[in-house]
Amino acid sequence: MKDKLNKIEEAALQSASVAASEAELQQVRARYLGRKGEITAVMKGMGQLSPEERPLAGALANQVKDRLEAAFAERQESLRQELMQQKLANECLDVTLPGRRRRRGYKHPITQVTEEIIEIFAALGFGVAEGPEIERDFYNFEALNIPKDHPARDMQDTFYVSEDVVLRTHTSPVQIRTMLKQKPPVRVVAPGTVYRRDSDITHSPMFHQIEGFLVDRQVTFGDLKGILTTFVTEFFGKNVDVRFRPSFFPFTEPSAEVDIQCVICGGTGCRVCGQSGWLEILGSGMIDPEVFKSVDYDPELYTGFAFGLGIERIAMLKYGVNDLRLFFENDLRFLKQF
Ligand code: PHE
Repeated sequence: MKDKLNKIEEAALQSASVAASEAELQQVRARYLGRKGEITAVMKGMGQLSPEERPLAGALANQVKDRLEAAFAERQESLRQELMQQKLANECLDVTLPGRRRRRGYKHPITQVTEEIIEIFAALGFGVAEGPEIERDFYNFEALNIPKDHPARDMQDTFYVSEDVVLRTHTSPVQIRTMLKQKPPVRVVAPGTVYRRDSDITHSPMFHQIEGFLVDRQVTFGDLKGILTTFVTEFFGKNVDVRFRPSFFPFTEPSAEVDIQCVICGGTGCRVCGQSGWLEILGSGMIDPEVFKSVDYDPELYTGFAFGLGIERIAMLKYGVNDLRLFFENDLRFLKQF
């Protein structure tokens, strides 16, 4: 009996030491200590022993059983350790490698240009105002001295929401809203989205303008020229020539359009400037006394100038972009370049 137990123990320890995984070890355990295991069988067979032999044999069998349990537990622990060491070795992580940078977004070029323009005017003492994109006829047209039969009201140009409500066709209504709220002196720029029924490589039905105006006592056309020339020089650089060309707007008198020397050909004439050497960038003029009347400013006391410029247009000129639609397609290959 003793020999038999010793042999079983030896075989069990041997099997446990070569078990290569916890699952295999589990099988070995079942083979010896399980309900149908070899040790269990020996214990069951003890009934056939004499009463004197029985206690001794029982104690012996229990000792063997305990030793095996301990050996299996130990083997199990070392198998776990081995597995862990293996994992650590395979999944090694080099914490000294540089991290991967999170990619930052970019401000849209139109936003960048708008902010740049605002900054230039802020340095000249201008504040910022905003108005609604869905606008009443009164602010968009009537108060700006655009009579009912003016061509700018034609269905071709204006998106009508109802007979009295339009998508604003320019940022000039912000002049009216601001002047109705504020007494002179006022010095404000107003950036925003505007809408016109127009679509080709140089026109989009939605685009951006920035309006600017200044009202005070004794404001002259000289002030208009001074401020706008300063703006152009700040924005496009000192070497770019500026000219003021007579023009017409219902809400300014006299009016002028501002041209800059063509940034593509430097003024010698090319396709972009239509061989003229000049590019139009904004409309401007002295605010018409009729406009002052509709906001209850005294035209005898106050004068002022206003201007409006297309942001896409000057962004195209500054960065040499030849298709306006690129600004609205959100192609990252384009946007990333700014
Ligand atoms: N509102 C005019 C336009 O959209 C531009 C402008 C603004 C002209 C202010 C003169 C004064 O074309």
